[in-house]
Amino acid sequence: MNKEQLMKEAIKAQKYSYSPYSKFKVGAALLTKDNKIYHGCNVENSSYGLSMCAERIAIFNAVSAGVTSKDIKAMAIFANTKTVVKPCGACRQVMEEFFNKDVKIYLGNKTGDIKTTNIKVLLPDSYTHGDYNKQ
Ligand code: THU
Repeated sequence: MNKEQLMKEAIKAQKYSYSPYSKFKVGAALLTKDNKIYHGCNVENSSYGLSMCAERIAIFNAVSAGVTSKDIKAMAIFANTKTVVKPCGACRQVMEEFFNKDVKIYLGNKTGDIKTTNIKVLLPDSYTHGDYNKQ
């Protein structure tokens, strides 16, 4: 599956976005090395702080189905923006937990641009699971 195809999966996921407050619809699709896809969309709540981003829902969807870090190949994220969508800080920290530097992260937008990046670029010098053992 190429980046355009994975982005199409993110667009499919975006359709289910529950975002009556922000009206900002986001879709994400996580691809595993054995070509399985796990989708996510943002799901908001009237208690705004309980809202969850598309990226984290896709990752938690995969992890709760048994996917581990070593299985993950790529993730595509889509929103109807002019510039490519940018994952929030919380999602970057969750990506850091499960994505190694070789996992491709594709950021899309409504004009069809796809920017390829990775978690080391999105969240350099991050706090990781090894850090709390170093005290
Ligand atoms: N959102 C995502 O789902 N992913 C992003 O990358 C950026 C922001 C959601 C959170 C909230 O539901 C809405 O977009 C507006 O911030």
